[in-house]
Formats: sequence, C-alpha cells, structure tokens
Amino acid sequence: LWTPENIIDESIDQIRQQVGDDEVVLGLSGGVDSSVVAALLHKAIGDQLTCVFVDNGLLRHLEGEQVMATFAEHMGIRVIRVDAEDLFLGKLKGVSDPEEKRKIIGNTFIDVFDTEAGKLTNAAWLAQGTIYPDVIESAGAKTGKAHLIKSHHNVGGLPENMKLKLCEPLRELFKDEVRKIGVELGLPFDMVYRHPFPGPGLGVRILGEVKKEYADLLRLADAIYIEELRKHELYDKVSQAFTVFMPVKSVGVTGDGRRYQYVVALRAVETIDFMTARWAHLPYEFLDHVSRRIVNEIDGISRVVYDITGKPPGTIEWE
Ligand code: XMP
Repeated sequence: LWTPENIIDESIDQIRQQVGDDEVVLGLSGGVDSSVVAALLHKAIGDQLTCVFVDNGLLRHLEGEQVMATFAEHMGIRVIRVDAEDLFLGKLKGVSDPEEKRKIIGNTFIDVFDTEAGKLTNAAWLAQGTIYPDVIESAGAKTGKAHLIKSHHNVGGLPENMKLKLCEPLRELFKDEVRKIGVELGLPFDMVYRHPFPGPGLGVRILGEVKKEYADLLRLADAIYIEELRKHELYDKVSQAFTVFMPVKSVGVTGDGRRYQYVVALRAVETIDFMTARWAHLPYEFLDHVSRRIVNEIDGISRVVYDITGKPPGTIEWE
C-alpha cells in the first residue's frame, strides 16, 4: 500500500542496508528533492550524513539563511555552508551567453562540491535527490542531476582513493510522492511545495552578464513579488512565478524628481508539465500593487513589466 509512512519505513531500511556504517555526503540545494533526501537520510543514519550547501551568490533573498535554519538549527543535520559567491561571480564576469553561463555555473558547482566532499575523507557514498523523471535522460540533463552523477562516476575532482558510490533513495518516486514524504518527514510545507527553481538560479534570470548589483536588486524585487503572491493566496494557484532582471535603464518620475534606473519583468505561468505553459492571468489590482511596491521600495528599479508570453512560443525562463 502506498502511504508516505510505508515508503519512508521501507526507504530507511534500504538506506541502512545499503550504506551500513559508512559516511554519506549530500549536495543540499534547498530544493524539494535534495531537502527530502537530507531529511530521509538523517532519519535513517543520523550523524553519518554530512550535507554540503553551496551558496553560489545566485540564490534568492535569504535562501541560504533559510536552508541553514531548517536543516542545521532546526533538524540538527550537519551542513557545511560554502560561501562561493565571489568565485561564481568572478567566473561569470564578462559572460553573457545563456548556455555559456549555465555551463560555467554547473562546472563551478561541481568543482566547489568536489573540493568540499574531498575534505570528508571518510565519506563513501554520494547521496543525490534523483527522482524518477530525472532518470529519464532529457529531464536529468535539464535539472543538471545527470551531469553531477556523470562527473562523480568519472571520479571528477575527487581523490583517486575516494570513489563515491551513489545513494539515490528517491529514484523510483514522482514529484508529488516526494512532496508527500517531505511533509511526513516534518519539512516545512512552504519548502516542500515551493515553485521549481533552476539550478543556475538567478544566473539565468539576469539577462546577459551577471553582476552582484543586479543580483541584489533582483533578489529584493523577487522577494516582494513572492511575498505578495503568498499574501494574496495566489502562490499556489500558479505553477511558477519569478522576476527577471533587465540590464537596461528606463526613465521614471517620483515625488523628488527624475529617475533613470533598471527594469524588471514579472513572470507567472500555469502548467501541468512545464513543457507548455500559459501566462497566468493575475488580477490587475494585484499586479498594480506589486509594481508600486517594487518601484517605491527599491532604489535602483524604476519600471516593472508583466510577461504575457506563453510557451510556446516563449520559454518559461527568459534565458
Ligand atoms: P523553460 O524555460 O525551458 O523551463 O520553459 C522549463 C522548466 O525548467 C526550468 N529550467 C531549468 N532548471 N536548470 C534547471 O535546473 C536549468 O538550466 C533550467 N532552465 C530552465 C524552468 O525554471 C522551468 O521550470
């Protein structure tokens, strides 16, 4: 019988049999899948688990703090937080091609993760939040999980004597099943039902070259948008919503004069499978409210637009 409790019990037995007394390292992103693996492994093997959380400087507002609060402080899981913002932004300097940015972010992640994992000299297993759709190749390529697996199979940057074996306890599960397990394991509902967030993060939501100034402005605008979506009970009615930063300036006026600042676009879509999507018909009053808050509260953004492009012909992300 498929119940979250049964699946958890079964998985715990399997994990214990699989890894025995070995130590396990997990790349924790704060996304649903790796979060559920962390909670599940912690329940199964406790302190044998070490998570590595890489802050690439392309995360959302307070995301790193939330991950540490949930897993390290609240659940007592050992999490190593790596502050790699300077490294990622340095490598992205001068790069504006979207696929090039994706490659750089993905490869830098692997380098940073390998270095940290390499320090855990007792680790024998690499745990991953691979879920069933990732096993189907194209989806895996999109989430980048296939890439990580491949790199570690090839030993990647890890010392020769440290070949990690793979532990993928969610391999047979669909997303909705993973979410149910997450809730049952005590993860916060908002985390488990969060919209998808791409691996390259804000790196593909800042059009063209990525700069810290842009990322900081984007984080503030996106936090307002998401906060208002939640407040107006619209967050769970759309499949994905986010803000895109445009490195172009536009003229505006406020009480004290002329402004010449950046533009952001709000995006919200409704979709079942993310292969096709319809732009969400959010209420005008809501959009008006969010737009005013962003322009009034953020010094650096003077204009807000709403994306009314479906998929096809558009994609969900702008890059
Ligand atoms: P697109 O923009 O292709 O997005 O319509 C479809 C879904 O995939 C997500 N997406 C990504 N996820 N790495 C990821 O992990 C990526 O490079 C990437 N690009 C797009 C996007 O957020 C949407 O949910």
